[in-house]
Amino acid sequence: MARLPAVHVTTDDLADLAVDALIVPVFRGAIEAPGTDQALRALGLEEIPRDHGFRGKLGEVLHLAAPGQPWGRVTLVGLGRLDQLSDETLRRAAGSAIRAVRERAATVATTLVLVDPSDAAIRAVAEGALLGAYRYDEVRTDPPPIALTDVTLLVPSSLADRASGLVDRALVHARAQLVAADLVSAPPNRLGPVEVADRARELLPDAIDVEVWDEDRLGEEGCGGLLAVGRGSARPPRLVRLRYSPADPVASVALVGKGITFDTGGISLKRPSNIMDSMKGDMGGAAAVLAVFTALAELEVPVEVRGELCLAENMPGADAQRPSDVITIRDGQTVEVMNTDAEGRLVMADGLALSAEADVDAIVDVATLTGAAFRAIGKRATAVFSNDDDLLRQLLDASVLAGEATWHLPLWEDLRENLESDVADLDNIGRGDEAGATMAGLFLREFVDGTPWAHLDIAGPFWQDEDRYHLSRHGTGVSVRTLLRWLESTTG
Ligand code: BES
Ligand code: MN
Ligand code: ZN
Repeated sequence: MARLPAVHVTTDDLADLAVDALIVPVFRGAIEAPGTDQALRALGLEEIPRDHGFRGKLGEVLHLAAPGQPWGRVTLVGLGRLDQLSDETLRRAAGSAIRAVRERAATVATTLVLVDPSDAAIRAVAEGALLGAYRYDEVRTDPPPIALTDVTLLVPSSLADRASGLVDRALVHARAQLVAADLVSAPPNRLGPVEVADRARELLPDAIDVEVWDEDRLGEEGCGGLLAVGRGSARPPRLVRLRYSPADPVASVALVGKGITFDTGGISLKRPSNIMDSMKGDMGGAAAVLAVFTALAELEVPVEVRGELCLAENMPGADAQRPSDVITIRDGQTVEVMNTDAEGRLVMADGLALSAEADVDAIVDVATLTGAAFRAIGKRATAVFSNDDDLLRQLLDASVLAGEATWHLPLWEDLRENLESDVADLDNIGRGDEAGATMAGLFLREFVDGTPWAHLDIAGPFWQDEDRYHLSRHGTGVSVRTLLRWLESTTG
């Protein structure tokens, strides 16, 4: 993984800071406001940037020389409108500013504009700065160097004691998210099911128990969903089972991740083929779950956490499953596979059934499950479905703290009957062409055996084509920080 800068907190005077660049956040409209000239001159700027077109729009950046100052340069970053200020706008501005300087400045400092920043605001700025420093460059032989080594946050002295603990948490969360981002962006020829299992063993600390079920074991254990999806590929499926067991846990939960390392659709081949490349990220759910486990011990999460990474490659090989095949899931239910491109729900069914057997207090799954989810709510938001209002509320609250847009969608009872198959217990796509994300959620619900459960459909936000604020292009590592916030706040 890319090396991240160290983040420091200081209450020192600005004048004592020798850094390559000073980042100065500016609200929209502030440049035009009276009094701004004076403030900017105090930073060593000779020229007041009215003519540069900089208006302080969120994430907008302007570099200015500051001759004779301990900081060589000032980078203005837009915070957007004051009346729209939130922890997330701070996170975004910090990310944009850091991305704009990371190739040319080794050391940067940033003021926070807020006179009395909340803990959440400090955490958000630190997270944004760390995430903005990241770029996926694992498979380039000669990536353009990232110069940035140190980021200093200037905070009011009243906050000095608390701030470094907050920054430490931000670092753990950001690092975990980037573990997931790296896995999502990794090329599928280099990262099949076996390789994801290897990465789990490499990346996870001793505090995490890792067990890997190969195809023989999956057969013995009745995991017919994973085996059916995996059989069209020369690369066999795997189930990676993770466990974190703190002393005296206050609760127990299971996380289940969809880990399709490449989704061609199988025999129900995807069309057009030129949109297939992002399907290397169809393991974004499994990547998020794995990444969460990298952080649990460091955060001292008081909850017992199990993880199931449901890994397979969905290929149309000679032994691939056929539309109309009937398979048997771990819990004994039979499924008629009417469309082999609805493969995620088949591998997840095994993982959910195993989680339900473990008698946990809650199950949360994460999956790049349906194109319908992003068509419904946009590609930047996660759709959440749940059979439990309390769990749903907890996850929505956690998503707000993380700044990961998440929206509740329904599991209409009326549509359940559309999942009935003519020959088996269930049909994997169901009748009708309405509410695709809901149909997938209803299908998954059949395997949780009444356990409080929530399903995060990340088919929109797992990937982005362009850099955007703190999130760099390609795999985003979405959901990792939401899940960590949720686990940190669980008190039993
Ligand atoms: N992995 C896809 C869903 C997806 C699409 C994720 C685009 C991210 C971006 C999933 O396996 C799939 O193919 N779903 C089908 C379901 C359909 C066949 C019922 C879909 O959404 O079209
Ligand atoms: Mn598919
Ligand atoms: Zn898929």
